[in-house]
Amino acid sequence: MPAPNTIRMSANRASQPARSTQPDESSGWHTLLQLTDPHLFADPQGRLLDVTTRRSFEAVLELALARSLRTEALVLTGDLVHDESPEGYRAIRRLLDRTGLPYYCIPGNHDSLPLMKDLLGPAALAPIAVRSLGDWNLVFLDSTEPGRESGRLGQARLASLGELLAADSAPAVLFLHQHPIPVQSAWMDALGVADGEELLLVCDRHPQVKAVVCGHIHQEFTERHGALQILGTPSTCVQFKPRCADFAIDTRPPGYREIRLFHDGRIRSRVVRLSDYPEQASPAAAGY
Ligand SMILES: [Fe+2]
Repeated sequence: MPAPNTIRMSANRASQPARSTQPDESSGWHTLLQLTDPHLFADPQGRLLDVTTRRSFEAVLELALARSLRTEALVLTGDLVHDESPEGYRAIRRLLDRTGLPYYCIPGNHDSLPLMKDLLGPAALAPIAVRSLGDWNLVFLDSTEPGRESGRLGQARLASLGELLAADSAPAVLFLHQHPIPVQSAWMDALGVADGEELLLVCDRHPQVKAVVCGHIHQEFTERHGALQILGTPSTCVQFKPRCADFAIDTRPPGYREIRLFHDGRIRSRVVRLSDYPEQASPAAAGY
């Protein structure tokens, strides 16, 4: 069973989250940004369904840094590249290094974990890792299965997660690539985390987990499982239309998710999209 990788950004830790009905904004918060599914190519002009993915990623990153104030970390939840190319990962690294912010990356079904580890170094987190942001734990899970678009965590990783959460009751956010519950799109729901229900059982036993945040679905998604928030986020390139039985393109522009982690243990987030982005995938596309 792999030992969780634990590097602390900050040793500050609240003894007990306070209880209130609303986030206590006066008590302050930590801000992190989730950017997901950039699908970069080795070729800077590489396109996915008519969207130049490097250009759209750069545009979303620029928007995120300008719009979201006091950002302390960036999280990339998979499908960093589309062609498993070293140059795609080098491009991601150059762009993220330039921000001066700590960043964390987990693999998606289009990624090569060996290349990620070679080219992104300690920012590539798998199979399970924890990083601290103030008094919160950010927990990263590799949900990918080699050769498959769908995901699975497996008993060993779920057990590691349970041990990790049992040992540290700080409020936590979990990040993984595939979605752990159905998003009401039949084609996409065949590609989720096969043992997502088991993941939710682990979260039920450890209520300090406030949210599970995924990529993969290329759309905004918000659901509740008891007090737990389950969040999906638009891709930085092509968007998939929500609640469709078959593959369908959404004409909404690319975006990212801003996540605020309050000192009282509450979480608040919002999706921010580009406006007037010139490129768009053709709604006639039948797949990617
Ligand atoms: Fe993707």
